[in-house]
This record gives sequence, C-alpha cells and structure tokens, in this order.
Amino acid sequence: MKNATLHQLKVFEVAARHGSFTRAAEELFLTQPTVSMQIKQLTKIVGLPLFEQVGKKLYLTEAGKVLFNTCQDVFERLSQFEMTISDMKGLKQGRLSLAVVTTAKYVVPRLLGPFCQAYPGIDVSLKVANHDRLLERLNDNQDDLYILSQLPPNTDISVYPFLENPMVVIASREHPLAQEHNIPLERMAEEPMIMREAGSGTRRSVQKMFDERKIPLKIKLELASNEAIKQAVAGGLGISVLSRHTLALEGAMGKLTILDVQEFPIKSHWYVIHLAGRQLSVVARTFLEYLQTDGKKLADKAIEN
Ligand code: PGA
Repeated sequence: MKNATLHQLKVFEVAARHGSFTRAAEELFLTQPTVSMQIKQLTKIVGLPLFEQVGKKLYLTEAGKVLFNTCQDVFERLSQFEMTISDMKGLKQGRLSLAVVTTAKYVVPRLLGPFCQAYPGIDVSLKVANHDRLLERLNDNQDDLYILSQLPPNTDISVYPFLENPMVVIASREHPLAQEHNIPLERMAEEPMIMREAGSGTRRSVQKMFDERKIPLKIKLELASNEAIKQAVAGGLGISVLSRHTLALEGAMGKLTILDVQEFPIKSHWYVIHLAGRQLSVVARTFLEYLQTDGKKLADKAIEN
C-alpha cells in the first residue's frame, strides 16, 4: 500500500460512500474517467477487486469493505491531527459532527448559535434522527457526539448527563379531558392515540409504561414526525405523548394543552454520549464542555421561560 496515494484513497472513499463513480466525480469536482482511473490504479496496488457490479448497482467486495473502513480511520485521524495543530496555534478549528434524537432538535440548534459565535472556525454538521437510527450511526462510529435519552445497553459508551426531558400527554385545547385533573391511565388509554413510528425513543417510553401496567393503547395513527403529531392533535384526531420540549415554541395561544394524567410526566433525561473507544477531537471536547456549562445554563433558562 506504500505506492497508493492519499488522493487515490480519498477518491475510493467517496466512491465507496456513494456507491457510484459519477457521484464521487461530482463531489470531488473530477471527471468520471479520472475517478475510474484512480480506482483502477488502486485496485492494481491492492491486488484484489474493490467493487463489483450487479446489474446497474455498484457494491464493495470484501476487500473493498476493509479498505473503506481503513480509509475512514485514516481520514478521521488526519482531521483530528489538523484540529490538534489548530489548537496548538491557539485556534479552535475544524468540524463537529453531532447527531441528536428528533426531540432534541428543539433545544440543540439554539445552543449552537452562541457556540459558533464563540468559535467561528468550527463548522457543525447536525443530524436529526430517531433513536434507532441514531444507534446505527453510533455503532458505525459516524459522529463525534450523540444526544438521546435511552442509553444503549450493550455498547461500550461514555455518558454525560445533559438535560431533563419530561414527556407529557398533549391534546387539543377543546378536548373533553382538557379541564380534568388527575386523569387515570386507564381513562387516558380509552382515547385514540397518535404515536411516533417504531424505532422512536418516545414511542418506546410510552409503550413500556402501558405494557408494564398491562393497559392496551388505542393507536389510531402513526406518524414519524413530532411536528406532524402536533398538527394531528391540534386537528382533534387524538391525543399523544411527546417530549415537553417539542412544545417550546407553542406559546399560550397555541392550540395544544398538556393533560393532567396520573404518573405523567414520564421522567426522562437526555445524555450526551460517544463510543468509549473514540478519541474525541479538540473541537468535540470543546463542545462537550460547552454543553455541560454555558450550553446547559442556556437550555435551563429556555425551559423556565
Ligand atoms: P425519538 O427519541 O426522537 O426517537 O422519539 C427521543 C429520545 O430518545 O429522547
């Protein structure tokens, strides 16, 4: 591999990520024949095919998969090196890759503003996905930091508590239960429910609570978006359970209300986590410190208001 160039490895990494030479050429501002040529040369050096074509689709061979993982490690280490050097020069520079569960998107982007102002050299990529999708990203070691509430049981991770994430029952203001107090769970379960999709952490918490008490739920509608659920609830289609943070921008004039149901809110907590084996970049460490200090203060204040 000593004869392979970094450029060839980069071309291969991008082509493997997209599963397409054409898309790799677009991303790298190269021509398609240049991409093919670089990969041909790299294949020769490796001595085994890296891609195989089945129909119109391009797949990585076993050797290709191993090389892809190696390339990702190499580029990750190089980008960490760059960040360390910037840090030595007194600059916090580089890229922060964050992935958060859908409910945290109501809080985290607001915390990024002051952080990016304080560190203008840091670029942030923020992915928002449901709980299961986030765990897939974690297992593939795709991001620096993750924010979620339910910790994966069988993964070696480092965990930092972040913010409370109470889950409340929401209904339209005109709902017959809106004025009632201390509503029993059994009564709540008689109402048509609007639920998040399978794979959602919110859904899992709600389901667990009712399963443990052996109370069946009447799921009328499944929606993969907190915003769509709020609209459906406002439209009178049913009630739902969502993180209280999803209501942050509703205001007193909003169409939704929180029902006073026994045993609610479900107490839960957001955590910042990363794979224990991952060496955090300077940038990721800076953000983690920020989340635990100024960022947390800002979020606490936003919740109070
Ligand atoms: P979800 O997860 O966005 O998948 O519902 C919420 C959470 O884990 O807090």
